[in-house]
Amino acid sequence: TYVVTENCIKCKYTDCVDVCPVDCFYEGPNFLVIHPDECIDCGLCEPECPADAIFSEDDLPKDQLAFVDLNAELAEVWPNISAQKEPLADADEWKGKPGKRDLLER
Ligand code: SF4
Ligand code: F3S
Repeated sequence: TYVVTENCIKCKYTDCVDVCPVDCFYEGPNFLVIHPDECIDCGLCEPECPADAIFSEDDLPKDQLAFVDLNAELAEVWPNISAQKEPLADADEWKGKPGKRDLLER
């Protein structure tokens, strides 16, 4: 499965949503997640993210491992998103900033 990681937080560009053939993205206030049971591992979303936030679970950086469980957990409670929308207003300022994990809103 593919996993959305920390770099998405406070950016939420949503380019990923547009290419997903099975619409398995779920949206929170400032972050998206992928439903691990619905993702078909096509890999289309990974190169689309301007923040490089999406990884295959197999290639996940070690410091992002906690996002496996976070994606699974939040995909069960957040609503589905199937169309691209405007990124968060200050997305470009937050893009690539470290230490965003504690800023994740639920
Ligand atoms: Fe959707 Fe494919 Fe990305 Fe999985 S890998 S979330 S199926 S675009
Ligand atoms: Fe987030 Fe990247 Fe998608 S910033 S919303 S994972 S395009």
